[in-house]
Amino acid sequence: MTEPLDVASLVRPDSVHRRLYTDPAIFDLEMQRIFERAWIFVGHDSQVPEAGDYYHTTIGRQSVIMVRGADGQVRVLYNRCPHKGAQLVGDTSGNARHFRCLYHGWVFDTEGRNKVIPLEKGYDGSPIGKGKPCADMDAVARVGNYRGFVFASLAKDGPALEAWLGGVASSIDNMVDRSPEGALEVTGGVFRYLHDSNWKFFVENLNDMMHPMVTHNSSSLTARRVADKALGKDARMPSAIEILSPFTNSYSFFDEMGLHAYPYGHGYSGGQVSIHSAYSGIPAYDALMTEAYGEERMKEIYSVNRHNTVVYPSLTLKGAIQTIRVVRPIAVDKTLVESWVLRLKGAPEELLQRSILYCNLINSSFNLVGPDDAEAYRRQQLGLMTEANDWVSMHRYLGQETPADHGGRTAIGSSDLAFRNQYAAWAQYMSAED
Ligand code: FES
Ligand SMILES: [Fe+2]
Repeated sequence: MTEPLDVASLVRPDSVHRRLYTDPAIFDLEMQRIFERAWIFVGHDSQVPEAGDYYHTTIGRQSVIMVRGADGQVRVLYNRCPHKGAQLVGDTSGNARHFRCLYHGWVFDTEGRNKVIPLEKGYDGSPIGKGKPCADMDAVARVGNYRGFVFASLAKDGPALEAWLGGVASSIDNMVDRSPEGALEVTGGVFRYLHDSNWKFFVENLNDMMHPMVTHNSSSLTARRVADKALGKDARMPSAIEILSPFTNSYSFFDEMGLHAYPYGHGYSGGQVSIHSAYSGIPAYDALMTEAYGEERMKEIYSVNRHNTVVYPSLTLKGAIQTIRVVRPIAVDKTLVESWVLRLKGAPEELLQRSILYCNLINSSFNLVGPDDAEAYRRQQLGLMTEANDWVSMHRYLGQETPADHGGRTAIGSSDLAFRNQYAAWAQYMSAED
């Protein structure tokens, strides 16, 4: 039998209760108090470059569309007809002059305003009619755009987007600054990878520095050995090997990468050094960057080589390789992870090819590294269904942290700081009643 929900009792400073990952009632409350309250990444504004372009996605359990109106503004609207509730958009993306409901033919412009109600005179004397608010599509409470990244919050009140991002805004900055034109563009399609596990396993894992050399041993170390044997240890390695090899770097390498943790559960691993910092240079790119920024600033931009940044709870990014992964929870044991590639505007094609290669090799469901992780999460999901021990450990280097910028803290890479920080934010969101 499910015990009553007392969320505060499920998070300790050094451990969390297994129910966080297995209890459907907790999942429902997470959707309500975290995903339908916090700033959630909706999409990149380059997905809707022209007036009328739309993209259909979800915020928690809510179906929404991100749409660029005729006035050029990007809005996030609930995907629901105000008449009797039918979803207005059924496909994922496209361009519309207007949205026409398939049921009774109400029509809305791309800013969500009602334009047509068939036989409107039947509503005379009622609150329904063109120009009356309850005949328009509903907009979500707040929308923010940070350097092209569009977030929305369903809560009327709360911190402004930039203040909420705090210390991880610089990870987005670095990804954008790597473009000679200072702009990114979503390119190609999206990998949608359904995980048979709770969403929090994925979000934790990105800053889990104790797993790569174990979980990815069979893929990364094998690739490294095959390449060493075929090409010799000192040869310049093909990009695929450059990408795969560092996953089996030593414990001390990952320890030295370090961790940063910030308010609201955000954080990143890696700094100047990460699994991305030893990639070969691309001289044509360096020339364009020097022209755009000058040599000193270019070096400063290149010196930021973070591993994973988590914008808690839903957006994770890799600035150094221009990929993002977005978490869309579906059920307590089902999570959709979307993987996107961003093009650095004005950069040579080689950069884009490297990002696509990274996504193919690491993030896709039919390749090497991502499936290693997905299997680990699946086994956690199954293991935590047993009643062996209720508590999941986050003890490593507890209390051994030092203050960082933006009210954050920093620790060595193998610390459990990132997890403790995420669960402190989790408890805060979950305990705040509506
Ligand atoms: S439900 Fe949309 S017009 Fe009736
Ligand atoms: Fe991993």
